[in-house]
Amino acid sequence: MTGIGGLDNILNGGIPLGNTVLVTGTVGTGKTTIGMEFLVRGAQKGENCAFITVTEPSAKLIENMRTYDFFDDELIKAGKLHIFDLHVIYDHLGLEWGEYEIRDMDILLGAFEDIVDELSITRLVIDSITAICYQLQNRSAIRKFIFDLGKFLSTFGCTTFLISETVIEAGVEKYSVFGVEEAISDGIMLLGNINRKGDLLRTIQVVKMRGTPHSRAKHVSDLTPDGMAIVPLLKWGSDMY
Ligand SMILES: Nc1ncnc2c1ncn2[C@@H]1O[C@H](COP(=O)(O)OP(=O)(O)OP(=O)(O)O)[C@@H](O)[C@H]1O
Ligand SMILES: [Mg+2]
Repeated sequence: MTGIGGLDNILNGGIPLGNTVLVTGTVGTGKTTIGMEFLVRGAQKGENCAFITVTEPSAKLIENMRTYDFFDDELIKAGKLHIFDLHVIYDHLGLEWGEYEIRDMDILLGAFEDIVDELSITRLVIDSITAICYQLQNRSAIRKFIFDLGKFLSTFGCTTFLISETVIEAGVEKYSVFGVEEAISDGIMLLGNINRKGDLLRTIQVVKMRGTPHSRAKHVSDLTPDGMAIVPLLKWGSDMY
């Protein structure tokens, strides 16, 4: 059970333990929020959870998350919710931002392994995989990094959200920028927007999830103070489009 309102229903019980899930969408669709809520719900149940932030500095991320009632600083103090800034990890490792070579990525993966192993992490969010990949020099380095990451995640068995950006190519929406991110993922959750009479509603759709029969229908995801509330799209009537 993820503990996120409505999501476990769509997933027919939740995300199978140890799955790597690509959470992908365009800007402002709630990717960071769903990632953080996934961890908060786990931490509230006593799980050890870690968020690795790449796009936003951790102080800014925490400040934004504090505007939601579901976010609880006490979980950080209690050592159940850990937030790591990738830039800080780089500094520790002596790596320079934006100048990676394959060897540097091995060091970085080693640091991820230490985090998961030493803190006994069972829920992990990387926000975003796209931002890490943009630092790499070429497609083959990106492929290698993603496959190595996938290998590491499947060995450790923590349930992971890899946050990604969708891209439109030749009029078709792709789930990830580099294409390989999907290959290592057991599940894909697509976040989007839909226009309804001038209102932009957020949507969520589980495209695939290995290990569970799930709904593939598009649902409305409302960002409420208590977190994401997910309801079937049909409830909103057929004038959605
Ligand atoms: N306390 C809040 N209650 C409800 N909605 C909020 C709250 N704080 C922010 N939002 C909404 O959430 C949106 C951002 O959500 P979030 O950061 O999770 O999206 P994202 O997909 O990660 O965006 P980005 O692509 O910029 O990283 C904001 O644009 C705002 O509309
Ligand atoms: Mg975000």
